[in-house]
Amino acid sequence: MTKPNASVELNAITKSYGSTTIIGDTSITINDGEFVSLLGPSGCGKSTILKMIAGLASPSTGTVSAGNEEIKGPGPDRGMVFQDHALLPWMTARGNIDFGLRSARPSLSKTERADITRTHLEQVGLTDAAERRPARLSGGMQQRVGIARAFAIDPPIMLLDEPFGALDALTRRELQLQLLNIWEASHRTVVMVTHDVDEAILLSDRVLVMSKSPEATIITDIPVNLPRPRHELSEDASVEAETTALRKRMLHLLEH
Ligand SMILES: Nc1ncnc2c1ncn2[C@@H]1O[C@H](COP(=O)(O)OP(=O)(O)OP(=O)(O)O)[C@@H](O)[C@H]1O
Ligand SMILES: [Mg+2]
Repeated sequence: MTKPNASVELNAITKSYGSTTIIGDTSITINDGEFVSLLGPSGCGKSTILKMIAGLASPSTGTVSAGNEEIKGPGPDRGMVFQDHALLPWMTARGNIDFGLRSARPSLSKTERADITRTHLEQVGLTDAAERRPARLSGGMQQRVGIARAFAIDPPIMLLDEPFGALDALTRRELQLQLLNIWEASHRTVVMVTHDVDEAILLSDRVLVMSKSPEATIITDIPVNLPRPRHELSEDASVEAETTALRKRMLHLLEH
């Protein structure tokens, strides 16, 4: 079986709510296997763009496609980690991952699902909390369940909406490095929204910076040409200088 093309394309899209055009004319091409981050002020439409790729929202004008096919709705080729976790409240942490697997990969056996679920709960440090429902998990723990669910499903296109937003610094760093490892081993297509400039630099091939809403759009497309694998931000002087320059440029764009 040939690997399906996991590219993403937004072609001259806009998005309006009522009379307000939140996102102005915007086109984005994300190549198969590329890690792209979206950086921009609050309310500029980052989550909306991810939801359009996920098939949970549609553009007001223009088209969105995945693998050269226009997106009409959600599909197993795309998985999303939501800003607000979006866990099923009546299911345990384990149940949420198992349910996600059952829906997205129906060919897996019960035993295979149990194995994958166990591995991913362990990876995010939630083995002991596996039988708890979301109401009994902290915000950061809920977020880790959402991340574990997406990693377990392992879709060709991963959409991450501030996946590490509500985590303490140490867990955040651990999961960033874990995502980096998974990505460097498999090179799946990732589109990640973040507010964290350093996170964007550590993980991305390219960072798209957006302007403010209304009529928000991509103002700059910044390639991150740092060597990989990037297990940690490097201590090599030239890499460090490049990282500093990128950080400055991104912060400047966000502030002005
Ligand atoms: N269903 C909706 N109806 C009306 N307006 C909406 C709807 N969804 C989003 N918006 C508006 O669209 C704009 C963009 O929202 P979006 O959630 O995409 O922003 P964002 O860039 O992800 O912000 P943040 O960084 O705060 O998460 C906001 O002004 C928001 O209020
Ligand atoms: Mg958002």
